[in-house]
Amino acid sequence: MKVLIVGGGGREHAIIKKLAESPEIEKLYCAPGNGGTAALAENVNVAATDIEILADWAEANQIGYAVVAPDDPLCMGLVDLLEQKGIPAFGPDKAAARIEGSKVFAKKLMELYGIPTAKSRVFDDMAQALSYIAEQPAPIVVKADGLALGKGVLICQTRAEAAEAVREMMEKDKFGAAGRRILIEEFLTGPEVSVLSFTDGETIVPMVSSMDHKRALDGDRGLNTGGMGVIAPNPYYTEAVAKRCMEEIYLPTVRAMNAQGCPFKGCLYFGLMLTKDGPKVIEYNCRFGDPEAQAVLPLLETDLFSIMRHVTAGTLKQADVRFSNQASCCVVIASGGYPVKYEKGKPVYGLPEAGRQPDAWVFHAGTKKDGKRIVTSGGRVLGVTAVADTLTEAVNRAYATAHLISFDGAYMRHDIGQKALKE
Ligand code: AMP
Ligand code: GLY
Repeated sequence: MKVLIVGGGGREHAIIKKLAESPEIEKLYCAPGNGGTAALAENVNVAATDIEILADWAEANQIGYAVVAPDDPLCMGLVDLLEQKGIPAFGPDKAAARIEGSKVFAKKLMELYGIPTAKSRVFDDMAQALSYIAEQPAPIVVKADGLALGKGVLICQTRAEAAEAVREMMEKDKFGAAGRRILIEEFLTGPEVSVLSFTDGETIVPMVSSMDHKRALDGDRGLNTGGMGVIAPNPYYTEAVAKRCMEEIYLPTVRAMNAQGCPFKGCLYFGLMLTKDGPKVIEYNCRFGDPEAQAVLPLLETDLFSIMRHVTAGTLKQADVRFSNQASCCVVIASGGYPVKYEKGKPVYGLPEAGRQPDAWVFHAGTKKDGKRIVTSGGRVLGVTAVADTLTEAVNRAYATAHLISFDGAYMRHDIGQKALKE
């Protein structure tokens, strides 16, 4: 079968590496792909958000199955378009993708079905939002309703800062339409856990838990990024916590989506905070996390393609989903200046040697082929993952492999996994 993967980052490279192991796939395509996916798939030069063009291309090229990985095409309805053409696709349809695409939708869902989350209020009117802020204790969390490239959440230490955030979103249109409606939320504290899951709308199977490192610099300092590294499993996620999450969060979410008439099929990502009052949902994503996928998928021992097809067919109960008991660590190598301003087109050195390291994978995120060379083409350039029996070994091996790679301006965090190791 011919399979198309939509997207072009490290997550998509990790998905493709897993899919390439499946005997049922005869050819992989990736749109738009990157310098790493090109080794395993044929890159198709169409942006992930050109959803009509992609659906037509898939039909014309006899694609038998598609995997839509990024949030934008999912929220725009690419899965719906593919299905209209008779092409089964992994990922939620447009209605179900609202669980990520609209924070107001997600919050209302949780409130309606008693799923634990931060208390929050929705505002369409700036004056009302500002007077509400005047009565709230700080810190205050301000969130844009829609997709804002992961930058739509502001943790404000003072009321004045929160008021400024509200003005930026609602008056100055910092996030365009995504921020004209906002949520003002109570500030929660506790360890954060990411849990990706497979669900076909009935059955839900959580994957190994993980811990993202979102800030740019060591010690969780610096600006928020898309993620600078991940370890899995997350030591805070004990069996007792997992059981509680299944009963209080995962199953209720799947049932709630059904009750709302928009069953969720695909990878449902739970961003959780383990507060002293129990686990609470910080956010849902309607897709694999990036870079969580780069740490979690290398631990999957069974056939990803088979699992995905069970998800699409509504037969996940029959799927064989097994993860290794090992640990993994993914370290992101970024361009100097990321997440603000950075240069592109820098040649990347050391990839062949890094690629030869045992139990290590080099996932390309922001790279492209330039003749025979690989050059940088984005902020997060590579994700280097290692798997080992212990987290300490996985961390050491990931860093040893990452240090074989260099390019002008490259930087990485040096403390990925340290918080988990202390735990
Ligand atoms: P998001 O963009 O939704 O992933 O949020 C980014 C980060 O903001 C999360 O990973 C949390 O660390 C933090 N965050 C979001 N909502 C809250 C909240 N209600 N209380 C404390 N931290 C939060
Ligand atoms: N790493 C967080 C995300 O994918 O949203």
